[in-house]
Amino acid sequence: MKPMRIALTKGRLEKDTVALFEKIGYDCTNLKEKGRKLILEIPGANMEVVLAKAADVITYVEHGVCDLGVVGKDTIMENGTSFYEMMDLGFGRCKFALATKRGTDFYAGYNTKCIATKYPKVARTYFESKNMDVDVVKIEGSVELAPLLGLADGIVDIVETGTTLKENGLEVTEFISDISARVIVNIASLKLRKGEIEGLLDKIAEAKEEKA
Ligand code: PRP
Repeated sequence: MKPMRIALTKGRLEKDTVALFEKIGYDCTNLKEKGRKLILEIPGANMEVVLAKAADVITYVEHGVCDLGVVGKDTIMENGTSFYEMMDLGFGRCKFALATKRGTDFYAGYNTKCIATKYPKVARTYFESKNMDVDVVKIEGSVELAPLLGLADGIVDIVETGTTLKENGLEVTEFISDISARVIVNIASLKLRKGEIEGLLDKIAEAKEEKA
């Protein structure tokens, strides 16, 4: 049978995911000494790991070229839902928040507020839930700049330690939701490789418990 293919989010979630796989007992040598290689075999496990950007993890799992994925809830909320979200891994914890310049009242005045964000869908959904009409401007990174430059009244962004906000004179105005790493599974794969996938999910759950 062809190897089970798992898409891992490169960067912030990578180290914790590899540590979890090692705890299960998988040989992660290739993952730790990967160089520029993007498809990495786990020897002796009929599994291969694909390293990709967060949104691409979802694309590969939705299209079925990867059976499983590890991705942040932030990316799941922003990008698509045609997969099963099977497990909260408990790491990569942070939150979505609305932040503004320290000491300003976001709701003051009657003008339509402008929100800068890397997550336009999350921002729109949040303000829709408050029945509030806002303009949303998509920014690709360092979103904290937008209110400082006068482009936006606030940002909807990820806050982990709060250092970036603090160092730039911004503060959290409202908490939106909690974020952490999740395991997602392709819909057809869960039918066709049910035993294998459930076996892996059991092992992950067990290793996760050990960690706590
Ligand atoms: C994220 C987020 C914040 C920062 C929050 O950005 O967009 O800017 O991390 O972390 P903190 O609360 O611990 O300071 P990232 O590092 O992914 O960079 P980017 O905004 O340039 O994409």
